[in-house]
This record gives sequence, C-alpha cells and structure tokens, in this order.
Amino acid sequence: MKALDARALRKDFPIFEQEIHGKPLAFLDSAASSQKPRQMLEAMDRFYETSYANVHRGVYELAERATEALELSRERMRAFVNAPSAREIIFVRNATEALNLVAYAWGLWNLEPGDLVVVTELEHHSNFVPWQFIASKRGAELRLLPLTEDGELDLSGLDDLAREGNVKVVATNLVSNSLGTINPVDRLVAWAHEQGAIFVCDAAQAAPHMRVDVQALGVDFLALSGHKVCGPSGIGVLWGRTELLQKMEPFLTGGHMISSVRADRTTWGELPHKFEAGTAPMAEAVGLAAAVDYVEAAGLEAIEAYEHELAAYALGRLAEIPGITLYGPPADRRAGIVSFNLADVHPHDVAQILDLQGVAIRAGHHCCQPLMQKLGVAATNRASFYLYTVREEIDQLVEGLHAVRKVFA
Ligand SMILES: Cc1ncc(COP(=O)(O)O)c(C=O)c1O
Repeated sequence: MKALDARALRKDFPIFEQEIHGKPLAFLDSAASSQKPRQMLEAMDRFYETSYANVHRGVYELAERATEALELSRERMRAFVNAPSAREIIFVRNATEALNLVAYAWGLWNLEPGDLVVVTELEHHSNFVPWQFIASKRGAELRLLPLTEDGELDLSGLDDLAREGNVKVVATNLVSNSLGTINPVDRLVAWAHEQGAIFVCDAAQAAPHMRVDVQALGVDFLALSGHKVCGPSGIGVLWGRTELLQKMEPFLTGGHMISSVRADRTTWGELPHKFEAGTAPMAEAVGLAAAVDYVEAAGLEAIEAYEHELAAYALGRLAEIPGITLYGPPADRRAGIVSFNLADVHPHDVAQILDLQGVAIRAGHHCCQPLMQKLGVAATNRASFYLYTVREEIDQLVEGLHAVRKVFA
C-alpha cells in the first residue's frame, strides 16, 4: 500500500489557496461535506462545455454523448461499490433520499403490526427518522441498539430483541458521523439475515474513508452521498439487490420512470429507471465518477490508514487541553472524526472563536439527537479529517482551543 501524501493532494484543492480571517484555512469539517479537487471540477466543466443535453430522450449527437456519460458514471459507481450489476445503481440526490427510498418503497409495503425495525443510538437522523415514520405508519415498532461507554454498539441484547417481534429491517451506519465509530456491520448483517430481515447500510460516512464493497459486506441496500467523497452536491447513490428492487413499487413517479402510461394504468420502467423519476443529475454523475477516480487513485486503504493516524494524533493533542471531554472509541476503531466538549463552554461559542483563527469545525447535535441524549449533552464540537488534512491544521485547532479557554477563563 502506498502511503498517502496529503500535502501533495492538497494542492489539487483550489479552496486551500485562500486565507480565512487572515489565517491559513484549517478545514476540519469534511464529515459534513468534503472539499473538491480540480480534477472533479474540470470534468463537470468539460461535460457542460462539450456534451450537455438532456439524457435518454434525444436521438441527436449531444443527447447521445450526455446519455453515454451518465451511463459510464453509473458503471463507475458500480465498480466503486463492487455491485454485481450497474442496473442496481440508482442515482438520487443524497444519502437521505436513498434511505427514504428504501423506507417508502420497501418499508411502506412490507412492514406490518408486530414487526420490528432495528436502528442504533448512533444513527444519523437520515437513517432514523424515515424508519421511525414508516414504522409508525405501518403499526410496526422501532428498536434502538444501545451504545457502550466507549461509543461502540453493544450487541449483547440481540437475542432478547429477536424474541420481542419479527425483526424485518436492520438499518445502521458503517461509520458514525458523530463519533467516527466503525460499526461491526458484518455481525449485524449475519444476525439480520438469520431473522429473515433486510439489512440497510448507511455508508454516507464510510464511503469516503474506506473501501465499501457491497458483496463483501453482504448488505441488501447501501446509501452514499457524492458530496462527502469529493463529488458535487446534489447526487447520491442507492445500491440495492436486483431481486429486492424488482419487487418494489416506485418511490417517486413521473417522467422517465415509466414503461407505458394510459388513462387507466401506468406500468414501470426497468431498473434502474423505475427509481429515477425526472431529469437525471447527469453533470453531477460525471463529477461523482471523476471524484471517485480521484479518491481511488489516492487509495482507499491509504486514506483509511492515514485517518487512523490523524485521529490518534488529534486525540493525543486534544487530551493535553485542560477541561476537555473526548467522546468515542480509540483511534484504531474510528475514522478521522473526533467529537469533544471544552469544559462548559457551549460548542457554538467554541466554533465561533475558532472561526476567527481560520479553523472550521462543526458544533451542534450533528443530526444525532438520540446520541446526544445518550451522551447527556445538547451538542458537541466535531473535528473531521480527509485525504487533504495535514497535522498543522490539528495544531491550529489545538492553539485555537487554548485561545477559547483564555476567553472563558
Ligand atoms: C452517517 C450519515 N448518514 C447520512 C447522512 C446524510 O447525508 P446527506 O445529508 O448527504 O443526505 C450523513 C450526513 O452527514 C451522515 O453522516
């Protein structure tokens, strides 16, 4: 495995060519959204400048070029997640839409009273609220797998849970966006399948940081967002098994997703079109394909190893600060995400003072209110890293936190 050279990669990202409040930019919010390499931006520009037209509808040269570009991008994303077929790659707006698609198009039609939908205390709202909503519509119940003190999933209650009802859906993330925890999805998939349940994997936070292989994971559905993996905003991917997707009703209806429309009845198109109503995000798909080319050239294994190093460095440096509370597991069991609180200073105050030092971090509940309740806090600060993060940015964060302490001393 070749080591990652973050300093060299960083030069590909135009955003770092500026100062913020007269300071070098320390961008430590990649878990919310990643920055964009020139290679991705240029691929989108090229598409708009040379090949843009609506897809799948025209017979003229430009429409054919655009359609080919969209379908090549679909094939690229198939390879990225190692799906058996490109027909199983559905382009959506983001991971949230992908997860809603499964909750509506599978859950609404298959859940019934007595069924259990199992999520975790560590879920992002995007893999929690759709299940809570659809379960309640169908008279099914939502159950939460609890966390240990270290912020890892406690699987000791699985057998008891199986006795409480028919487990029909298990939906968890592979990597937590708040604590960085890497979850034991392989064990949970095996357990879900023993129960006859489907397993829905929220890989929004995993896909940017480690290799995600749907066949090796053995999951039934997998969701990711393009904007977190160096791609543009406005595009995500849902992968699902053909046999499940084929049996499902559509999620959104309208243009492009039909086979035939009559006054009395409409029939649905083939996969993936049945789930892609309306004009496709074609330029975004081209950008996403270029983004995953970029990330794979850097090396997903190298990114994962580098993030463990950065997490260890950050946890060590942050632990030097008096009054700090660090949340989550040890560095080797988490991605490059570190959540913390500084004494009783509100995270928003911390983040605002850090901004003046050029340091961008996230403060809030990170769309994980059930987790915040578990931790007994309203909010945390979160610093998150990616392939362009350098140690100096973490040093800048630590210096900034000393400045925060002085303000509140
Ligand atoms: C673990 C996880 N799931 C789902 C999402 C939702 O992603 P999006 O807002 O792109 O739909 C996020 C975004 O932060 C996330 O971190």
